Amino acid sequence: MNSSQNILPEPPEDLKQHSARLHARIVERIGQDGPIPFSTFMEMALYEPGLGYYSAGLQKFGAEGDFVTAPELGDVFAACLARQVEQVADTLGEIEILEIGAGSGQLAADLIKELRGRSQAKASSYRILERSAHLRAVQRETLAQAGLEGAVEWLDAPPDKPWKGIIIANEVIDALAVERFQLRGGEVRQVCVDFEDGALKLTDRAAPDDLEATVRALGDLPAGYRSEVCLLLQPWLKTVTESLETGVALFIDYGYPRAEYYLPERRDGTLIAHYQHRAHGQLLRYPGLQDLTAFVDFTAVAEAGQSAGLDLLGYTNQALFLMSCGMDEVVHERLTGDPEQDMRVNNQVRHLMLPGMMGEKFQVMALGRGWPGGEGLRGFSFRDLSARL
Ligand SMILES: C[S@@+](CC[C@H](N)C(=O)[O-])C[C@H]1O[C@@H](n2cnc3c(N)ncnc32)[C@H](O)[C@@H]1O
Repeated sequence: MNSSQNILPEPPEDLKQHSARLHARIVERIGQDGPIPFSTFMEMALYEPGLGYYSAGLQKFGAEGDFVTAPELGDVFAACLARQVEQVADTLGEIEILEIGAGSGQLAADLIKELRGRSQAKASSYRILERSAHLRAVQRETLAQAGLEGAVEWLDAPPDKPWKGIIIANEVIDALAVERFQLRGGEVRQVCVDFEDGALKLTDRAAPDDLEATVRALGDLPAGYRSEVCLLLQPWLKTVTESLETGVALFIDYGYPRAEYYLPERRDGTLIAHYQHRAHGQLLRYPGLQDLTAFVDFTAVAEAGQSAGLDLLGYTNQALFLMSCGMDEVVHERLTGDPEQDMRVNNQVRHLMLPGMMGEKFQVMALGRGWPGGEGLRGFSFRDLSARL
């Protein structure tokens, strides 16, 4: 996601009312249960049926929305990914593709087109596992407009029959609800959301055992330190990869290896809200209207993979991954000499590759099951940074 810090615009009245309905539901929950863990608040703010940020029908992606993801920039990202998919198909034979959290459906549309345009591609089916009913409808529309009706099947749950192929999840782990914690007087506190004097407020209480154990395992952190951990990651990753018998799961997201994530100087974690291309720290503001997201601890992703019986096949940053996949060739194919078209292509490359933009902020991790030993994945051929995990 690409946002800038600025004064936050006031939402229009109808959206304020939309947010007020979700606010009321959160207050009702607090009335029943007492202060709710931040993770519960984040879960409701993003996914409360009909009202949460991802569940309701608001424009989220692209220039009109709150943030821009790599597939929304144009088709260069998808074309590079297609080359990685192709290697998996060349190695395993006929494969299936499972995209998790497909957003607007743009990546699916561009990836399918690119694979169809490349004769060697052997992907037999493209399935999408999408939590938001609203986004499923948006994806259907995107694919229909691309003339690809019928090319995708939507799943309500991860496949239950064994399958081989590739899982792709771009910017999905960052959208899983996280637990926020704070260290005080040697104690691990769980950050919660309460309702006081007519407003939602952050508060804290003694951490439950699982949160305390996870935070203690991060090592020594300074007093007052506040950050977040994703306790959902392990069960989620196990569930979505369980039926993958042979193949690769690619997770692309902004994040760090653990040693870089929980730096003593990063005293307030990485949780951030995105509203209309502004990134800001007012996490409780207008629930349902803004995205809430945290960076991904990629060491935790590798550990979750290991406990789900997956091997770590590669870890690198997005710029190195896309270059290894054949970014040069992809760009060459798209430069036509028409100044406007070439500028659009160059713009995509800048966003995707520059270290200050997505190039080094975004990481790519491949986990695999039954992947032939010795067969290195193309995307990690320039440089594999797994030793940093
Ligand atoms: C930040 S958006 C990224 C969208 C898209 N991949 C892109 O790159 O533009 C996160 C997506 O993940 C979906 N999502 C979040 N949690 C999910 C889950 N547990 N299972 C399936 N989809 C999920 C959201 O509804 C949304 O489509």
